[in-house]
Amino acid sequence: MSTIKTPHFDIEPSPHTLGARILGLDLSKALSSACIEDLIKALGTYGVLSYPKQTLSAQELTRFSACFGELEINVANNYQEPGIPQVMILSNMVENGKPLGIADAGQDWHTDMSYSRMVAFSNVLYGIKIPFRDGKSLGNTAFCNMHQAYAELPEEVKEKIRGRTATHDFSKFWDKMRREKGSTRPPLTEAQKLAKPPVSHPLIFLHPITQRWVLYANPGYTMSIDGMDPSESEALLNFLFEHQLQERFQYQHQWQEGDVLMWDNLGTVHNAVADYLPHEHRFIKRCQVMATRFFNSDGTPRLPLSDQPHEPHAH
Ligand code: SIN
Repeated sequence: MSTIKTPHFDIEPSPHTLGARILGLDLSKALSSACIEDLIKALGTYGVLSYPKQTLSAQELTRFSACFGELEINVANNYQEPGIPQVMILSNMVENGKPLGIADAGQDWHTDMSYSRMVAFSNVLYGIKIPFRDGKSLGNTAFCNMHQAYAELPEEVKEKIRGRTATHDFSKFWDKMRREKGSTRPPLTEAQKLAKPPVSHPLIFLHPITQRWVLYANPGYTMSIDGMDPSESEALLNFLFEHQLQERFQYQHQWQEGDVLMWDNLGTVHNAVADYLPHEHRFIKRCQVMATRFFNSDGTPRLPLSDQPHEPHAH
């Protein structure tokens, strides 16, 4: 696909259902609000943006991420950049017997913070050390396109989920990692559970940037469809999970060191591919941007970002 020029940066769309490279920006420098608005539109359109060849301090990563909304301080309260708790370390590296970061973050399909009253808008990752084997990057981040997943749902399923909400629970993902994936993360404490009680969100909504419908359910955190018979809810959610993860909705980011990768959590689900071994080192710094730009604290939508309709990515 050909490069798209904007006043602030160039966009190189991927040939896949999601993804674009943003060229011509140095994220260590302050960006204008017009540039940030254009990046937000691009994020809605392409779902996943990568910025190659960046060199960032933790403060610079925080400043860039905070341009998109309030930053989260993770409930697990561990593996944070000293003095900057908004920056989390994702890593399988161990120094002097001490893990440098959380080793298995996001290693199954999920949407960040769907378990929270204020959901996540965008996750911003800075790849400092990336494992390679035979010249190929490992630990890719895989995504599925929830605009496309909604559009391709059978009409009778759209009918069934219209106006419905579903319950999301933080402990679903955490417990599954411990139970099924051999994770060494400790059980959640009662205090951690109390800090993140289950919440309900609409199963579909109009995406605040694209103004198109998205499916908002994910295998990681979505527990049940509210007000539905439990067996019907389970069957329908299993259908939605299988549907949304189909190959044709998928895209994988193949990491290079120095990449900053950000994605739209409202329009995608993702999975950190766990295909590397303990000696194949990965070290990433992450900021989680909450959707405070689009939603009020009670979850009701704020006004759309812009009244200028933005041409969506052709699928
Ligand atoms: C995450 O889900 O936050 C982690 C993604 C990754 O490490 O690729």
